[in-house]
Amino acid sequence: MAISLHSAWSKICPADALIEQGDGIRFVISLVEGPIPAFLLRIDGQARAYLNRCSHVPVELDWDEGKFLDASGRSIVCATHGAVYDAGSGRCQGGPCRGRGLQPVACREIDGWIEVEATASRHA
Ligand code: FES
Repeated sequence: MAISLHSAWSKICPADALIEQGDGIRFVISLVEGPIPAFLLRIDGQARAYLNRCSHVPVELDWDEGKFLDASGRSIVCATHGAVYDAGSGRCQGGPCRGRGLQPVACREIDGWIEVEATASRHA
């Protein structure tokens, strides 16, 4: 049995729906391990996407749906135990993440849409 992998880009939302330092836009990405929650933010004009999974304990980060950022708009704070991540890079800035950052998802803005790279597996 052979397994083939391919990647594709999936439209998530119109580009103007992703507001600078605003609420995150949640989506589900299909990975080899199964469907995984993820989210988009716009930081310094750039779309950023991460798996919605804390590096301390694999739970979702937002304290209310789409609410990821602290008052500065530049840090993602885990709702469970307060791990702090840089919103632009996903790097751990402090707390229980202990140097382990968020897992980024490739994303791009093209033709007025935000797209993420979704990986699909197929048995051939
Ligand atoms: S689960 Fe996120 S800090 Fe513990």
